[in-house]
Parts: sequence; structure tokens; C-alpha cells
Amino acid sequence: MSPALPHLMAPGRIGSLSLRNRIIMSPMGSNMAESEGFCGERIQRYYERRAAGGAAMVIMGSVGISWPLGSPNWRQVAISDDRYLPELTALVERVHHHGALAAVQLHHGGLEAINDSQAGRPLLCPSEPEHAEESLTRYLTADEIATLSEPYQAETCQVHYKVADAEDIAWVIGQFVAAAQRARRCGFDAVEIHAGHGYLISSFLSPSVNKRSDAYGGSIENRSRLLVEVIAAIKAELGEDFPVWFRLDSHQFAAGGITNEDACATARLAVAAGADAVHCSADGDHSTGTCYTEGHSTHVPAGFSRFAAAVKASVDVPIIMPGRVEPAAGDRLIREGSIDFVTMARKLLADPDLPNKIQQNRQQDIRPCIYCYTCISQIFLRRHVICAVNAETGFETERSITPAATTRHVAIIGGGPAGMEAARVAALRGHRVTLIEKAPRLGGTVFFSGASYPPNSKLVAYLGEQMKTLAVDVRLNTEATPALIQQLAPERVVVANGCGRALPDIPGIDLPHVLDGDQIRSLVTGEGLDALESKIDRFTRILLAGAALSRVTANMALVRQLSKLWMPLGKRIVFIGGGLVAVELAEFLAQRGRQVTLLEEGGTFGRELMLVRRWRNMADIEALGVQCLPHAQVLRIDSNTVTYRNSSQQERTIAADHIILTTGTTANLALADALENQGFTVHTAGDCNGVTYIEGAMREGYLAGQAV
Ligand SMILES: Cc1cc2nc3c(=O)[nH]c(=O)nc-3n(C[C@H](O)[C@H](O)[C@H](O)COP(=O)(O)O)c2cc1C
Repeated sequence: MSPALPHLMAPGRIGSLSLRNRIIMSPMGSNMAESEGFCGERIQRYYERRAAGGAAMVIMGSVGISWPLGSPNWRQVAISDDRYLPELTALVERVHHHGALAAVQLHHGGLEAINDSQAGRPLLCPSEPEHAEESLTRYLTADEIATLSEPYQAETCQVHYKVADAEDIAWVIGQFVAAAQRARRCGFDAVEIHAGHGYLISSFLSPSVNKRSDAYGGSIENRSRLLVEVIAAIKAELGEDFPVWFRLDSHQFAAGGITNEDACATARLAVAAGADAVHCSADGDHSTGTCYTEGHSTHVPAGFSRFAAAVKASVDVPIIMPGRVEPAAGDRLIREGSIDFVTMARKLLADPDLPNKIQQNRQQDIRPCIYCYTCISQIFLRRHVICAVNAETGFETERSITPAATTRHVAIIGGGPAGMEAARVAALRGHRVTLIEKAPRLGGTVFFSGASYPPNSKLVAYLGEQMKTLAVDVRLNTEATPALIQQLAPERVVVANGCGRALPDIPGIDLPHVLDGDQIRSLVTGEGLDALESKIDRFTRILLAGAALSRVTANMALVRQLSKLWMPLGKRIVFIGGGLVAVELAEFLAQRGRQVTLLEEGGTFGRELMLVRRWRNMADIEALGVQCLPHAQVLRIDSNTVTYRNSSQQERTIAADHIILTTGTTANLALADALENQGFTVHTAGDCNGVTYIEGAMREGYLAGQAV
């Protein structure tokens, strides 16, 4: 059977290399080295897993050529000395064993090398940087700020600079060449020069950073000189046949930064020097938190395609492109001739088997990335990479699904992500699984969040599909009473029935224009409308019931479209609580013309979101005019106003047509306790243990599925 995406799955060539398809694992710093830059079992298994999943090649992310010099990451892998070679060689052998190629991204962090500052070493740079005002700590929690600033608290810390002179430049070139030689000795098939993302070589390329007036600054030929010399030197030392390419910012989303025309010119010069391919990434403005979602880990689907296509038109070597490229888009871009290879980063963290599943025409089984930025936020927080939807990522040594020693009947209560993930894992292990859900559909609260954040709908669809494939006995519209569980008589029970809710004690909370989470969900689905009798008029209820009957509200994509035309919510909306739900819904409502205000008791909005996504969301909702008021204690609600006390202890009143309550969620272990008291062996997972983000629900679901 030919694969559904023939262009993406077609073999391809880069220089002397033959690749089995067009999917390459994108380089990712994983913070998974053992101490001192060694590449131990954990990271070896992590790369091996992606090779086993069918990627044509894995590129090991940012490996230090002069480690610890030039290192920005807490646990960066090093290739700066021969002592690292045995473990790197073992990694390459593991990757090759699965028929994939292995490349290594050679890296010097330049101005981003935090570890240099921490140790008091100067940051190597083309010219002393002009200091832009930074807004990186905006929207962060105190804990996050403490973690990010940890390196700067070290006694040895000193932030100072070394403007590269001729000797430094010769040293840099020598370090890249020596690293490439070591890479070849380990058996790596190729090297990628990291020339993007604000690191050393890209700081030479960027006109906003490089202010030199010698042969390495000014014109694009001069700014490209360091890269060109590195490539030429590697080719000269390792021979024409050893493939070398570079990762380039094909555009920099920053004032005065690298333009696409610059990138095309650099690509021409580097290819003339011997580069076998160009890897077209992008960069952002390093003084803002949106740098990462605009730049290399873009939130825009196939966000770099027009820049990459322009580079492709400038050179005659293969173009590799990352950037939220879904398989179908990758296939199309290759077919159209805009690019030649796709690099996937986050998608292969979510599902390492993505290439094999496409090859086998099993696209419905691909676990989708939800672009929540948990993975990359971990790197900022000096932890190793994990994935919100794949609990095995980063834990390949200790987590994998193997058959259960004793197969059992397992009842799972709750069909949200935690329950479905527990069901998936338990069923894969050979258990007979009954999944009980009181709503008429699967997905729990994540189903609804698909209206405001569509990638979540894909996760619900994937998990739902797995329930069918694995023949899980799904019972919808079923209340999991202790009596029902007695009757089913399972040998193990997983309770994943979601959080509890307690209304805060605020005068006016019962007024008709105040809606809590459940009531908002009823408005979206048109179900449980009786509970809304005092909240919305009869005509609206009939309309919503009709939408539910015709199954319009079962389709979140349709809900998104129709809600642009009509929603039973007034113009001025005030949220009590500024967590994840409020931030996501605020964006949805503001896009639909509502004036939205968030009142948050604490100092941080969207605190359940990982920081890189929070930076993005907060910038987006502020751009939409959403007013975010921290340290606001709500005092009372009246018929068309909310009164709160601000951080200066002043009372303020704002107008509100509707008030949405997003606080008051609690743990909810009553059913789990009751079942345990009846003698069942019970595991709990997800929000019933206290509200977490999807990552927590999926991880706990996975572990519960393993434990039963
Ligand atoms: C956890 C993580 C670490 C990353 N580290 C690197 C890195 O070390 N070097 C690099 O060039 N890009 C790095 N990136 C960017 C990715 O290689 C990739 O370009 C980006 O995530 C967009 O591709 P995607 O949409 O397939 O995730 C990293 C991305 C993530 C998510």
C-alpha cells in the first residue's frame, strides 16, 4: 500500500546521504546530558526512540563544541573533548540500528551562553551589545523568576563581554572543525552548524547585533564571513563527501534584524563554500517572551514557508524547514517545490512513531502535539524535556508499555484526558477496560476548551479514536454510582472524574448574569439547560436545545464559526479569576467583539500555562484589548457591575453584562474514597486530585494505566 502522503514519505538525498523519507527530527536541546556534558543512557534512549519511530534522520540538538564555554543550557551535551566520544558513538549506533541517519548540531551559544556569565567568563560576541529594555519577567510567577535568575545569583556570576578579535575567530573556526572531526569519528553521518537563534554565528549575521566595521561586519558578505569560513574549513579538513549544512534564521522577527533577503544572500555564500543543504529556521526579538513563539518554535502553522521558499529559489541544494509543519502541509510544500525536507521537533516529542504511522496509513493514530510549549518551557526552567501529551518523552529508560503480568477487568470513571489515557494504556497492556462517562461525549473539560483553543480538540479526537481501536467498552451518559461499580465488579478502578466546584462567598454570586464553568459549558453544548433556567431566557434555551439536537454543538470547529455570528453573552464581560480557563476564554470572547476584563486575586495570569505559552497568550489577549487586573479582590456583584479592591486597597467598580466565574475548583476524591471503603483497589488521576494542566492529567492517566 502506498503511503497517504507520498511526497513526505519519498526517499531523498542531502549531499552524499540517502534518507528513507523527508521527515527529520529537529535539533532540540533536551537538558538531558549527565553532569559534565556526558551523553548517558537517558538521552541515548530518547534519540533511539525517535529513530525507531521512522524518522529518516535525527539531528542531536545544540551540542557544545567548546563546552563548558559557550554553553547556554543547564545540561548541554558536549563534543568538545575526546572523552565524550564513547557515549556519543553508542548513541549513533543505536540510531543507526533502526535505519535512521544521525547528525549533530554543532553549537556555540555566544551572547546566550548563560553558563559563561554564571562562571564569570565573558560572553563572546561580534560587538558589545546595545541593551534593549527586556520584558522577559512579565507574566511570570515568583518561582519562575527565581529559577530563571538562578545563574545570575551565583557568587561567580559576572555579565561581561569579549568582542571577538582575529585570534578568537580563528579559535572558533578551529573548535567547529575539531568538533566535526570528532562527530565523524563517532559515526555521525553529518554535521549541522548552528547559525541561528541568537547564538554566536547568528549574532554575526544579525545587523541589529553585529556593529563591527572590519571584514566580519557591515555588508551581508562580511556578516556571513564567519559562517562561510567555518563551512569551508570543515569541508577542507573532512573532505567534500562529509555532509555539512547550517541552520539559518531565514527571517528575524525583530526591528533591524536579519531579513529574508539577507538570509538568501547568506545561503548563496555558504553553499558556494560547500554547504550541502540549508535548514531554514527563524528568530524573534530576544528581549521579549514572544521571541520563541514568533521565532524558532513558531505558533503559526508552517510559519516559515515563504521565507524558506525564497531561500530555495536562491540556491541549488536541498532546503530543510521546521516550524509547526503538519504532515499534510509538509507533503504539499515538498510537492510544490518550496522545500525538500521537513524537520519536526514537538510533533516527534508527542509521537515518535509519527513517520511509521504515516507509512502505514494510520494517521488517525498519531498523537497530536497541542503546541502548549511545555517541552521548551522545561528548558527555561532548567529541567529536562518532557511532553504534555506523551508521558514517555524524556523517560524512555523507565516508561514503556509492556503486557500486564495478570490481565484484569479495569473500570475507569471519567472520560476526560486522564481517564482516556489510563484506558488506552491499560488496554494496550492487555486489560479489559470499561470506561464510564456521565456526559454524552468523551473529552471532559478539554472537549470544551477546543472551542477556545482548537489543538485541544485534536487530542480529544485522538484519544477517542484509541478507545475504538482498543475496543474499550465506553459507556456514555452513565453515572458511576457505587452501585453500578458493585455490579460491574471490576478488579481495579481508576477514578478520573474531574474536579469539584465550590462557589466563592461573594455577595451577588447568585445573580442571573453570573455564570460558572458548568453553566458556560451548558451554553456551549446546549445540554443541561434546565440548570440555566434562571440565567438565560426561554427563547435562547430553545435555540440552544435545537443546536444540541442537531449536533451542531458536538462540533467545536462549527461552534467556533457560529459563535462569531451569535452568542448568548453581553458586550461587557468580567471574569472572576485569571487562570488558564479565563485567559483562553478571554481570547475567544475578545475575538468575538466582547470587552473583557480579568480580575485575578494573585499576581500571575494563566498560571497553569507553561511560561512560553503564557508569554504568547498574554501578549495576544493584551493586543485584543483584554484588561488584566492583578491583585483584585472581588467584593460584590450587582445587577450590572462588579466591585473589587485593588492592590492599593481602593474600591473600584466596573460595568458588566455577564460575569464568568473561573475560581473555586477543588480536588474531588469523595467517589474514590467511597469505592475504596467498599473494598475496591482504586487509583486516581487528573483533576480529581486537584486541578492541573493537560500534562498532569495525561501523566497521571498514563501512570494509572501502568499501575492497574
Ligand atoms: C524543547 C525544544 C528545544 C529546542 N532546542 C533547539 C536547539 O537546541 N537547537 C535548535 O536549532 N532548535 C531548537 N529548538 C527548535 C526546534 O528545533 C524547531 O525548530 C521548533 O520547535 C519548530 O519545529 P516544530 O514546530 O516541529 O516543533 C527547540 C525546540 C524545542 C521544542
